[in-house]
Amino acid sequence: MSTNRTQVDVESLVDVKNGIQAKRIFWDQQIYDLEIEQIFGKCWQFLTHDSLIPNPGDFTTGYMAEDEVIVTRQDDGSVKAFLNVCTHRGARLVAAEAGNARAFSCTYHGWSFGMDGALKVVPMEEELYRGSLDKSKFGLREIRVESYRGLYYGNFDAQAPSLNDYLGDVKFYLDIWMDINGGIELVGPPSRSLLNCNWKTPAENFVGDAYHVGWTHLASLMALGGELAAIGGNEAPPNEGLGMQVTSRFGHGFGVLWDAAPAVHAINSKAGTLYREWFASRKPKMVEKLGAKVGRIYGSHLNGTVFPNNSYLLGTNTFKLWVPRGPHQIEVFTWAIVEKEMPAELKNAVVSGMNSTFGSAGMLEADDSDNMETMTQNNRGRMTREGKLNSQLGLGFDKLDPDFPGVIGQSAIGETSYRGFYRAYKEIMGADNWKAILKLDPDAWKHELIGQ
Ligand code: FES
Ligand code: FE
Repeated sequence: MSTNRTQVDVESLVDVKNGIQAKRIFWDQQIYDLEIEQIFGKCWQFLTHDSLIPNPGDFTTGYMAEDEVIVTRQDDGSVKAFLNVCTHRGARLVAAEAGNARAFSCTYHGWSFGMDGALKVVPMEEELYRGSLDKSKFGLREIRVESYRGLYYGNFDAQAPSLNDYLGDVKFYLDIWMDINGGIELVGPPSRSLLNCNWKTPAENFVGDAYHVGWTHLASLMALGGELAAIGGNEAPPNEGLGMQVTSRFGHGFGVLWDAAPAVHAINSKAGTLYREWFASRKPKMVEKLGAKVGRIYGSHLNGTVFPNNSYLLGTNTFKLWVPRGPHQIEVFTWAIVEKEMPAELKNAVVSGMNSTFGSAGMLEADDSDNMETMTQNNRGRMTREGKLNSQLGLGFDKLDPDFPGVIGQSAIGETSYRGFYRAYKEIMGADNWKAILKLDPDAWKHELIGQ
């Protein structure tokens, strides 16, 4: 067992049955170190999308937790990822955020690597190394990569389940917005900003917090006023109440929230008309494909987190990665989501609408940021961080629905997905490996259900 695991009492971090978490998980360095090893060392982390590296030689750089990575499109169309670290003396290999290249040359001593990661050229190799350097042993450190509907994720753990199995039930909900109109595109480069909060605060917020919207965002939403374009989500929800939220029955911690209120977008009235027309014309396809009950979710407000740190918020076309920078800071990466077949005019309007709501300087992003930062920073107080957090809203009132995979919270306003997120968090933090994680009690969620 690693040193970090012997030093953290994982059992004390989350009370799964009662929906309680220790505040220390947002502050303690040892807990963070264990998260890097257990959560970010074992789970799939978002890297890039097909649309951001369409051609051979295209690359993006980014992060898997605190490790810097390069993702490249190969000549055969496949995608590989590597640590963005020169294998000579460890300098950063690629400084650009994105581009197209035939090779990567290190700025320090000039070692050059092919797009496949192989070490190709070492300056003055013959004169200086005199045949003693085995270049085949100094290729870039490759990372396991798999994709789902054009989204590429990386994993440091060779034993982790496939991305397909890892996503599990969440694919059903991703497909509602990704498997239509030729698929989606992410529009980059991403805006980037630093927030002084723990990575879990936005991840848990996007996993399913409709509760805060009326308090945190109402003034901003009203200020947007005439610029709002309401789109087609205001239909009778498939569940009673204000919509629903969903979490995985076992592990993986994904959460989805569908809000029956109309989705809104900060775009001008002309683009708003285009937007409404777009959804009105496309929705019948989804209803035909998925049935009326599920298909009507398309075009509504839908948000979620793919565990651990990749979130999306449809209705404002936002795609986020919360990259940890120590226990008390994150770097936020934000892309706009558009549908491939949308006309260019609508795509442009969607991107600028997204920037004015959830971009780095977006109005709604600013509302959330203050809460995120205080939720983390007030744990500086010793008494404060000995406290507990409550995610009991809706506990004992969840149910199953044959039309929707996962555990279903009775309303969009609930904390079903929070509890699923922290159930997975505890399982993964406490287990030796994926074999052990997958053997854990498959009914660990049943206390959630109404009548239990
Ligand atoms: Fe990269 Fe020396 S550190 S070539
Ligand atoms: Fe918010």
